[in-house]
Amino acid sequence: MDSQPVPFVPPAPKPRTAPPSTLEMIRIVYRNPLELWGEPTYNEPWISVTGVGGPLVIANDPGLIRHVLVDNAKNYKMATVRQKILRPILRDGLLTAEGEVWRRSRKAMAPVFTPRHIFGFAEPMLKRTLEFVTRYEQGGTSDIAHDMTLLTFDILAETLFSGEISGEPGSFAKEIDRLFETMGRVDPLDLLRAPDWLPRLTRIRGRKTMAYFRKIVTDTVQMREARLRRAPDTVPQDFLTLLLKAEGPGGLTRAEVEDNIITFIGAGHETTARALGWTLYCLAEAPWEREKIEHEIDAVLAREPDPTKWLDAMPRWRVSPTRRNGSTPCRSPAPPSTRRSGSIRRRRRSTANRSSPKPGTASTYRDVPRCW
Ligand code: HEM
Repeated sequence: MDSQPVPFVPPAPKPRTAPPSTLEMIRIVYRNPLELWGEPTYNEPWISVTGVGGPLVIANDPGLIRHVLVDNAKNYKMATVRQKILRPILRDGLLTAEGEVWRRSRKAMAPVFTPRHIFGFAEPMLKRTLEFVTRYEQGGTSDIAHDMTLLTFDILAETLFSGEISGEPGSFAKEIDRLFETMGRVDPLDLLRAPDWLPRLTRIRGRKTMAYFRKIVTDTVQMREARLRRAPDTVPQDFLTLLLKAEGPGGLTRAEVEDNIITFIGAGHETTARALGWTLYCLAEAPWEREKIEHEIDAVLAREPDPTKWLDAMPRWRVSPTRRNGSTPCRSPAPPSTRRSGSIRRRRRSTANRSSPKPGTASTYRDVPRCW
């Protein structure tokens, strides 16, 4: 072991102890929305937030997340602020679609996510990753956050489009980064609930990128259609082909096909790149943990060559979803799951009982811990 096993605590925003003023909130949200959260956000199974397009429910507990997103989804609506930011970019893609459009799209896209297709992505993922890691063999210093963005995009481009994307090499990744950097920011006017007709600076800055990006997507779809007409038997059965097969009456419209291409790149790119970058950073700072993980991975690789079986072959650790003593060791920058809910707010008003909610059982929710 090359270092003392002292617990590693990565830098993180200091949880707030009091609500910010409106002006302060605008400044924080524009700079880094994570600085908005207070201690309960990290320690409670769920909290409520008002005043940011609320009432909002933020669910941390896995059972509650399942309750909100899966078992009882019809009782909850997407958070208004989230929709105001994401819908101009993703339109009717799965992440921002609601109601009938979401149900129809989900059904039309179900064949894309059968185990056969998902397992088919494992080999290209492995191939790209192995190509990528050769650059580390010489040693030296690397910008892991940047590298993980490149790797994630490489894998998405391979599994979603078999690398057949229109435009200059690398322009797709660059444009989507610029898109989220401009249009993906919370606009102060959205926080102040200004009417939609008032122009937002964030969206004006992103308009040109958006038009360019949409054109890449349209051209990519047309390139694939032309190939499907020319030589249908040689076309790869990747996400794009499967998505085009889902197009038609009762399935997806052409606009929805394009919206979902942007959604999958956008939703898959940033999230995975940040999760990988953060994990590698934490491991680099905690060599005793890294050593344990490397042993586990080596043991799995020695006995299981098939990448589709690696996850099941890894040892399982049970991690407590919520810590109540404030000792959360590694605050992840992943976004929390947020939903608007009328029913929870009504329950809060109608009872004085302050018992804690139990995971997955909304009927027991009596009171909602506040964010601060
Ligand atoms: C560490 C990586 C990831 C994290 C933390 C993450 C997180 C999430 C969360 C929290 C949601 C629910 C959002 C909500 O409805 O409020 C979601 C939905 C979604 N994610 Fe991811 N995601 C990750 C990777 C990916 C990847 C790789 C893809 C695609 C290639 C993807 C595509 C989607 C889509 C399409 C939805 C919407 C599903 C629906 O509503 O039917 N995500 N993700």
